[in-house]
Amino acid sequence: MQLDNLFDKLWQQYIHESPDSGKIYNLLTGTGEEIINDHVAFRTFDDPRINVAVLGQFFKDLGYEEKGEYHFAVKKLFAKHYEHRTDETRPKIFISELICSEFSPFLQSTVKDCVNKIDPKKLATPDLLYSGTLWGELDYDIYKKLLSESEYAAWMYVFGFRANHFTVFLNHMKKLASIEAINEFLKQNGFKLNISGGEIKGTPVDLLEQSSTIANEVDVKFKQGKFKVLNSYYEFARRYTLDNGKLYQGFVTASADKIFESTDVNR
Ligand code: NI
Repeated sequence: MQLDNLFDKLWQQYIHESPDSGKIYNLLTGTGEEIINDHVAFRTFDDPRINVAVLGQFFKDLGYEEKGEYHFAVKKLFAKHYEHRTDETRPKIFISELICSEFSPFLQSTVKDCVNKIDPKKLATPDLLYSGTLWGELDYDIYKKLLSESEYAAWMYVFGFRANHFTVFLNHMKKLASIEAINEFLKQNGFKLNISGGEIKGTPVDLLEQSSTIANEVDVKFKQGKFKVLNSYYEFARRYTLDNGKLYQGFVTASADKIFESTDVNR
């Protein structure tokens, strides 16, 4: 099925480019756990050729529907989440976009230049979701300049289209079903957690608790040579039930805001 194929491509790219996530996955399955994904997250810019609506449409065409909307005032992001219409075991999709008009003319023109370089044929199929950067050679000076305004913009410039992170759905775990247990497991195995806003983001009252590792540091090839950049992290989520007995399926803006910082070099 096309959707399985898409998730498989995204997962293979993710564990290839962010090897810690693959190591954690193998450690967890090695203890007998079966991994179900809570959500897969994507980043993009708000250019109408590649914005949330464009990326979201690929998932709508594959059986998803739009659910929640989220605004991140400080980071200047807008996001939507999507759920599969009929299959609850499918991961939710969380797509955010940077609101470029709220940044400098430099950032705006850089984004426009990048999108102008994308072959329009690339924009037409879900392959776009794992196509990486489509704007040629990367310039370290541009990266640094973007980084001074927005870590998100700099990340997107360097890594482009790919899953930003996958998320383990802890409710389906046998032994490591609590956020506390998984965090302890990760630390014992030498992985660092994102501590921005505390190791655990959200509370049972918010109906969602999340934690994440710090992103993998990888070598990225720029015009000027190779430099280390943080790319992707692994996230963990535990959901709680609503009064109607159903699991809460949304996202908590304050927690997601801190999770974004898992790729922040300046934190
Ligand atoms: Ni997430």
